Amino acid sequence: MNNRPFGRPYRIDAFPPSDYLTPMTIRPIISLPDPKLREVSKPLERVDDDVRRFADDMLETMYDAPGIGLAAIQVGEPLRMLVLDVSDREEPRNPRVFINPEIISRSDTPNVHEEGCLSIPDYYAEVERPAEVTVKYVDRDGKEQLVEANGLLATCLQHEIDHLNGVLFIDYLSKLKRDMVVRKFRKLARDRPPPARMVG
Ligand code: NI
Repeated sequence: MNNRPFGRPYRIDAFPPSDYLTPMTIRPIISLPDPKLREVSKPLERVDDDVRRFADDMLETMYDAPGIGLAAIQVGEPLRMLVLDVSDREEPRNPRVFINPEIISRSDTPNVHEEGCLSIPDYYAEVERPAEVTVKYVDRDGKEQLVEANGLLATCLQHEIDHLNGVLFIDYLSKLKRDMVVRKFRKLARDRPPPARMVG
């Protein structure tokens, strides 16, 4: 998720923590109208070093963008996994990894938040979602966890979990608005020069 008021420049002071073993890689983020964004991601069977390395790459990619949340499918991997950091600009970084996340309860109270998405650059709109959610997930150590989220964390978790099901925040807007956004991105993709071919 890319959230305008919370966007911040890349900061290296609090990241990476010392237990990161290998240099991290910034991965290209796919964007609308890439059909992959509509894929339903698959659960991970175990959490090993490869998964942790991938989570680190996702965090690096998210901070670089900059964004506050990123789902694996946004870097082209259809895995049920997301990373986020909803800490305030003034606070130290708080990178979090959610593997196989599942919303197990939602509050009746709604909350409206302006959302953006790293896969739909420079477009923002207000979305209404439940204000509180309880999410079951597996952490980067492979342990089952439960989090009761509200505020920005609840919004961000719901936005990213939607990505794992091929759902985008523009799906909550009127058909008119959504079609307008999709058309704009189709046109952008058409006008983009084709990737250079490797001839060898
Ligand atoms: Ni998004």
